[in-house]
Amino acid sequence: MAGGLRLPRRKRWSGGMTISGDPTKAANIDLPSSRPLPSHHHSRNSFEKMAATMRAWQFKNARGGLEKNLFLPAAGTSKPHITDSQILVEVHSAALNPADYKFPEMGMVTKALIPIPAISTPGMDFCGKVAEKGSKVDSFRVGEMVFGSYIGTFGHGSLAEYIAVSKEMIAPMPDGMQVDDMAGVGCTGLTMYQSIKPYVKEGDKIFINGGSGGTGVFGIQIAKALGCHVTTSCSGANVELCKGLGADEVLDYKSVDVVTALKEKGQVFSLVVDNAGSPRDFYKVSHNFLVPTGTFVQVSGPAGFGGFLNVASNMLLPGFLGGGKRKYHMMMVKNNAENLAQLGKWMQEGKVRPILDSVFEFDDVPKAFEKLKTGRAKGKIVVHVKKE
Ligand SMILES: NC(=O)c1ccc[n+]([C@@H]2O[C@H](COP(=O)([O-])OP(=O)(O)OC[C@H]3O[C@@H](n4cnc5c(N)ncnc54)[C@H](OP(=O)(O)O)[C@@H]3O)[C@@H](O)[C@H]2O)c1
Repeated sequence: MAGGLRLPRRKRWSGGMTISGDPTKAANIDLPSSRPLPSHHHSRNSFEKMAATMRAWQFKNARGGLEKNLFLPAAGTSKPHITDSQILVEVHSAALNPADYKFPEMGMVTKALIPIPAISTPGMDFCGKVAEKGSKVDSFRVGEMVFGSYIGTFGHGSLAEYIAVSKEMIAPMPDGMQVDDMAGVGCTGLTMYQSIKPYVKEGDKIFINGGSGGTGVFGIQIAKALGCHVTTSCSGANVELCKGLGADEVLDYKSVDVVTALKEKGQVFSLVVDNAGSPRDFYKVSHNFLVPTGTFVQVSGPAGFGGFLNVASNMLLPGFLGGGKRKYHMMMVKNNAENLAQLGKWMQEGKVRPILDSVFEFDDVPKAFEKLKTGRAKGKIVVHVKKE
């Protein structure tokens, strides 16, 4: 049990750099010519032929919901080719984030903003083994276990047996940690680190709106690791989870009015992190509970086009015209290997615990997305990619 949750079965990494037994690995690692291939295996040519493809979930569009449009090509799909500055990671486990379906489901709006391939593989977060690295990559070694997130690019994601990444997207998996646990750190861990660390000092009070989801469970623990006093919100069923993660005070948003409860505390918070995007006017009333130098970090905005307009008005409307009266930062998570390494260190030290909502097998990715889209996940949803 952790944080009141039943933790699902996790993968342990056995370590080592074995390349025998799995043809998909063999073609990625430059076999020393002196090393004969095991006799029960195929020839090198047949290895390379087999390993040129991989299993990967794909979609062409997300009309009616991404989960309804995902397909797993029976013949496999091309394995990524890396550039001189990239690293090929054999994905052992991946984890889901709302952005994995939100961007594709925005259709034309997304296509106008970011290039999306005609056939895409979703997924950002992963933990796996370095299978190959480009000639200009001076860190990491083939066979090393790493974790991270594929942020800032789209279409060749982690719900595949291999992913090509830059070194900014990964950090070494700390000794003693488990694959499933590290698979879920990337995007949400980075988001919360980048939403909290720059804005607080030890002893500050912080309010995290939405403490029980993928972002929230990291946010509470990161704020505590930084020495902050944490108040958070969640539904009644998750109050004990948030307390178990270290929250000093938890507001059940279904039974109390969060804004009223915060106003009663006065201007005491140095930082508000909004993972829930609710209530809609949260930033505009935040001067009632943020200190005058405090910051409001918007991680999630209200849904739909109205949400877009809401964020735009938060950013642009001056306080004297009804806008917010505190510093406002719209969070856009970025790759950062140092931040990932810090998260890994805290996890190894036990300061940040992994909280897994559920673990799905690779063939069940559409079901994993259905679970994510309920909006009720307690922590991370993980997918086993590599077959045992
Ligand atoms: N800006 C960025 O760079 C960035 C990065 C990462 C994520 N995001 C966004 O952040 C949002 C949260 O991500 P996530 O991974 O945490 O999603 P998630 O795991 O799906 O979050 C689900 C959680 O949200 C909580 N929740 C729902 N409504 C709430 C409310 N009114 N008040 C408090 N909690 C509420 C639920 O708690 P209960 O079940 O207890 O109600 C549930 O535990 C998403 O919209 C995501 O797209 C943005």
